[in-house]
Amino acid sequence: MSAPPALNETRRKATEAGIDLGGLPEHIAVIMDGNGRWATARGLQRLLGHREGYRTLRTVLLDCSELGVRYLTVYAFSAENWRRPATEVEGLMKLIERAARDELRLMHRNNVRVRVAGRIDEVPPSLQEALRDGIETTRDNTGITFTLAINYGGRAELVDAIRSITREGIPADQIDEATVASHLYNPDIPDPDLMIRTAGEMRWSNFLIWQSAYCELAVTQVAWPEFDLTVLLDAVRQFQARRRKFGGL
Ligand code: IPE
Ligand code: IPE
Ligand code: MG
Repeated sequence: MSAPPALNETRRKATEAGIDLGGLPEHIAVIMDGNGRWATARGLQRLLGHREGYRTLRTVLLDCSELGVRYLTVYAFSAENWRRPATEVEGLMKLIERAARDELRLMHRNNVRVRVAGRIDEVPPSLQEALRDGIETTRDNTGITFTLAINYGGRAELVDAIRSITREGIPADQIDEATVASHLYNPDIPDPDLMIRTAGEMRWSNFLIWQSAYCELAVTQVAWPEFDLTVLLDAVRQFQARRRKFGGL
């Protein structure tokens, strides 16, 4: 008889926290909110909150990978975030680009497959290049799929899907839900099972509006820079206590 797979540190902590490792959400989506408030409350510039949020993301990605979550999708910059002051927008773009370049080796070493979602052709060319490099380098990795939503809007994604369906000349009476789903940015990625929003707001802010039709929502008061494994496991525990019905009984 072969020995059961060794429990890594993260899986051991999860078991101790009462998590059923056999019933993990396959896909977790996160609205990483509260960076600005976290910084302001400490008398810091908002961008320092974003920088701290980036450190959090590195840890949470590795935690999810060790835990055995198959897909992690995070909202890094919304299609509406261009409305913020230019200095914050520029700072965010630079931070995401630096993170994409600096973390690539770590992600590749951990067998992470990188993807993006959003109107990537509208972000600065050097960021596009860094993202393309990350996607190409990690395309054959078999570990967690990590999707960065950048310049992402759920409505924009639906508009883009409708445009490509129309461009392909698919007749109206042949369009069904599968047609729409297969024209989204990442049609091979399953819908999220659990959506986590940090910093307490009870809204979707235009994130994955098609894909989240039946996902479970967990809102924590914790701001993203302070999010950690304990809060993650708390959300997973809430998820495991729910009964998903998908409209049935
Ligand atoms: C989330 O934090 C990160 C982005 C939207 C880029 P916020 O910047 O929205 O932080 P708050 O909501 O102002 O605290
Ligand atoms: C959602 O947060 C976008 C990201 C986390 C990137 P926002 O802070 O932009 O959302 P609203 O403005 O509070 O709805
Ligand atoms: Mg916010």
